[in-house]
Amino acid sequence: MSVLDADAPELDLAGHSFVVRGPSALKGTLGVSGAKNSVLKLMAATLLAEGTYRISNVPRITDVGLMAELLRAIGCEVAVYSPGATGAADAFSSSAETVCSPDATGAADAFSSSAEDVCSPGATGAADAFSSSAEDVCSPGATGAADAFSSSAEDAGGSLVIDVPAQIEPVAPRNIVDRFRASIVVLGPMLARCGKAVVALPGGDDFGHRPIDMHLQGLARLGVESETVDGYVHARAQELRGDTIRLDFPSVGATENLLMAAVRAAGTTVIDNAAREPEVVDLCEFLVKMGARIQGAGSSTLTIEGVEDVERFGPADHCVVGDRIVAATYLAAVGIASGEITVTGVNPDHLAVLCGKLADMGMEVSVDDRSISAAVSSRLSSAKFSTLPYPGVATDLKPLLVALLATTDGVGSVTENLFAERFRYVDDLRAMGADIRIDSHHVVIEGTGRLSAARVKAHDIRAGAALVIAGVGAQGETVVSDAHHIARGYDDLAGKLRSLGADVSLSRS
Ligand code: UD1
Repeated sequence: MSVLDADAPELDLAGHSFVVRGPSALKGTLGVSGAKNSVLKLMAATLLAEGTYRISNVPRITDVGLMAELLRAIGCEVAVYSPGATGAADAFSSSAETVCSPDATGAADAFSSSAEDVCSPGATGAADAFSSSAEDVCSPGATGAADAFSSSAEDAGGSLVIDVPAQIEPVAPRNIVDRFRASIVVLGPMLARCGKAVVALPGGDDFGHRPIDMHLQGLARLGVESETVDGYVHARAQELRGDTIRLDFPSVGATENLLMAAVRAAGTTVIDNAAREPEVVDLCEFLVKMGARIQGAGSSTLTIEGVEDVERFGPADHCVVGDRIVAATYLAAVGIASGEITVTGVNPDHLAVLCGKLADMGMEVSVDDRSISAAVSSRLSSAKFSTLPYPGVATDLKPLLVALLATTDGVGSVTENLFAERFRYVDDLRAMGADIRIDSHHVVIEGTGRLSAARVKAHDIRAGAALVIAGVGAQGETVVSDAHHIARGYDDLAGKLRSLGADVSLSRS
């Protein structure tokens, strides 16, 4: 194995492993950048109107590159800037270096680009309404991401500049869509813009069947007819018309797709039992900046008054909300490895339930506006967790919590209520000495104190990160293969853990 340059950004980690030599107590301050689960939706939302969009606090993760590739296949120009190239001002100058090559558009040729396929709204949108003041680029607002990043340039995420043309091709090809689940959210905005869309059924994390029936049923209420042929959803609407949609479950992706279709529909749409996640709120804020009329963001009922006049809808600047799941990853890490850390760039309100539970377990937790500090000096007590839609403990945290509970004192459990098959990492933690039993959708964990090193495999983003942080607290050298899964959602996990004193590197397997 050859060790990569310690400063190399973790972007393309195919064929790489994380190598973790533990145990190390963690100490220091680190910043998290914007949330993967928000930035991908903001990128999709740009399809709603022609013009230039500037998005800051963007995490350096491979899923952003994939969404950029998808937007290019649809006809947009996308430049992705790493934090080094940024400072918002530099990133937004046309001379700044483009990190993702604009010619990497994938095999859009599989689809005809005949005039018929190309969608032209016949109007230019409100590009001129676009303002680029510093405040717009990264303003605090309700999302709490804001000037957390001014404290240290190192903490800042990267930036995106997206140019959406007057004509887009509303086709999302399989070779790109297959590679990440969030790609399905281009469906709503493409329908709103073009009245038609062809989208391959999405791929994504390796934790079971992930249907899109709620997306399609909700769109049908807005007047969309769709059929699935050969793994592609073909959707069309003569006219999008507002209606009341009651979701069976507060699905994040369905809420977002419906929101993005409804903002340009005729009349009023009400989404009942909508998802309340901070990333959905971030999308609402972005859409409102673009001209949308949305009430109830962050509540279970979203009321959207459609804006049909294309002149009243245009591009915007936005600073992505801080990644609460990444922040929680570092809190779990200090719970496992002990020490004292401060995580900046996250709104503590977005992790209130988790922080309360961690405090009950014995972690000293304190918060201010945009940071969370955590200190652990002795073994934590076990606890019972249950994953739920926001504001509950996120399902994405489950593998991280199972890894944490494997080291705590007593018997703990995590009950999964969203993705029944999300258990693939359990055998890997067992290989590290964890005592874990699966009982239906419950995971019961007998805390064993320190884990031991092993060669294990990342099965998805969070499961992989859980194994890396388990390795930080374990005795010996843990090798986590398939590092590319982790790079889909973590911006420089190895570098950030190293900045806290852990011995983590990347190697070619
Ligand atoms: C998003 C997040 C993911 C997170 C999840 C739940 C992104 C890119 N991903 O995924 O990290 O774990 O929210 O917080 O933002 N369901 C259906 N039919 C549908 C849609 C969903 O049955 O049409 C079910 C799913 O199988 C799952 C539950 O609803 O059991 C929640 O899924 P959903 O909230 O839609 O998750 P995603 O948006 O895919």
